Amino acid sequence: MEERLNNIYPIFDRMMGRKEKEALLGQRGLMVWFTGLSGSGKSTIAVALERELHKRGLLCRVLDGDNIRSGINNNLGFSPEDRVENIRRIAEVGKLFVDTGVITLAAFISPNDELREMAAAIIGRENFLEVYVSTPIEECERRDVKGLYAKARRGEIKEFTGVSAPFDAPPHPDLTLDTSLLSVERSVSRLLELIVPKVEIKH
Ligand code: ADX
Repeated sequence: MEERLNNIYPIFDRMMGRKEKEALLGQRGLMVWFTGLSGSGKSTIAVALERELHKRGLLCRVLDGDNIRSGINNNLGFSPEDRVENIRRIAEVGKLFVDTGVITLAAFISPNDELREMAAAIIGRENFLEVYVSTPIEECERRDVKGLYAKARRGEIKEFTGVSAPFDAPPHPDLTLDTSLLSVERSVSRLLELIVPKVEIKH
């Protein structure tokens, strides 16, 4: 074992388990992982989905770039190495929520399969749904909600995904949503059909 792990004594065997927490909440924990370009609609859909699940008595937690990159990951940028560390930490945090029985909605570009596979492996594949928000770059750039595409085109942001850094589409997502074709409401109803049966505990 690595030296720095030598004096670590996990107490997972003494802590209360996931099943007990899920029974308390009356739901199963699940990770819904949104991948897609900046401005594709990942966070908008995640937040709207959270609201609908909440209405149905289902407890969620949204994790997205704004709450994670301004806090726990505020020392990370957008180099390939930093993107790996960004997603690794998010997956570890997400796993804690899922193990507490919470439906966790993660909205991160996560621009390649290596990153998404790492997240699924950390969280556990059986707890992991991959949703590809496939809105084309032309539409993301037309919206340019944060003005970042314009900056990236002017060379003011380096390694900007879709402009000067790659985005590789996931080959086998559980669901694909193109927000240039689907309203937020339609996207959310597609997600509800997929998620609700997986998180419900039948009495
Ligand atoms: S990821 O690639 O590491 O998964 P993440 O989802 O956390 O990215 O953060 C993406 C958000 O950071 C974008 O929506 C955008 O607001 C902002 N951002 C700032 N610089 C970049 C960049 N170089 N590439 C992509 N997004 C950037």
